[in-house]
Amino acid sequence: MSEQFVSCGLEEILVGEPLPVSLYLYVDFRFITFRAAGDVIDRAALERLELKRVRNLFILEKDRKPFGEWSRVTVEAQPPPPLPEENKAFAKARADAHRKTMDIFQSSHPDRIVTQTLTASKKLVTEVMKFPFAVQTLAQLQTFSRGTVDHSVNVSVLGVYLAMQMGYSHTLILQHVGMGGLLHDIGKTRIQIDDQDSPDEVAVKMQEHPALGVKLLEGQQGVPIEVKKIIEQHHECHDGTGYPKKLRGQNIYDLARIVAIANTFDELVADGKGTLIERQRRAVLELDQNLFKKFDPQKLEKALKILKLGI
Ligand SMILES: [Fe+2]
Ligand SMILES: [Fe+2]
Repeated sequence: MSEQFVSCGLEEILVGEPLPVSLYLYVDFRFITFRAAGDVIDRAALERLELKRVRNLFILEKDRKPFGEWSRVTVEAQPPPPLPEENKAFAKARADAHRKTMDIFQSSHPDRIVTQTLTASKKLVTEVMKFPFAVQTLAQLQTFSRGTVDHSVNVSVLGVYLAMQMGYSHTLILQHVGMGGLLHDIGKTRIQIDDQDSPDEVAVKMQEHPALGVKLLEGQQGVPIEVKKIIEQHHECHDGTGYPKKLRGQNIYDLARIVAIANTFDELVADGKGTLIERQRRAVLELDQNLFKKFDPQKLEKALKILKLGI
């Protein structure tokens, strides 16, 4: 009897958690095992699939139920408290920004839809700006990143919230942080991954994404220079170990330093294990104890205080 397969979206896959069932790819008209039950998919593997424009994986039809439960339940074991009435507008703005960012990452001409994404981004920033000090739990600000789109929205929301709590209050500046956060990885849409590429070769190609992002937005009406600087410099590190230009300290654009913290925090959470809150706690510790040299010390200190209040 031939087995029946059903598709599942990449966004249903939990990074860092052992798979309850086997996952398959459809290649050359047949299903091949991608990962077996019990294997763990890391963020790099998921990103590689995204970069290769793989939209779906497959599971056996009989595995649909355990897979669905695993996908829904594992990370959000403690669901965030329901949003208060006044935050429903935030939830809607975040969903809109998510949809527009998804369009960007799935389009073959992302440059043509950037303007709509920026409009959605501004609305999201407006909603984040309404948050009062330190009453939000991180579980309301950050969802678990199941891929680049979730990650982009998280970096945008966290970046704006951190900037605001650090004392930045000018709407235009917060909009730059929000847009820069949402588009910071847009250059990944221009990276071509081949099947033969080794993980090291993929890592080298990946380092081109800040410059590719800026290039993609070249000549685009309405994309502020500040947003391009954030995209270009979000992987530069305070100690000069970042890329592409190995900039140091104050030579790194101020707002890029904030987005860099939000970016790394969200990556650490996605890379972790366990429930969202366990991952958030470990990510804060990791930033504090092991990665502190990479970030503007004053900004990191403030960011850690703010993040700790949320967990
Ligand atoms: Fe990046
Ligand atoms: Fe990123």
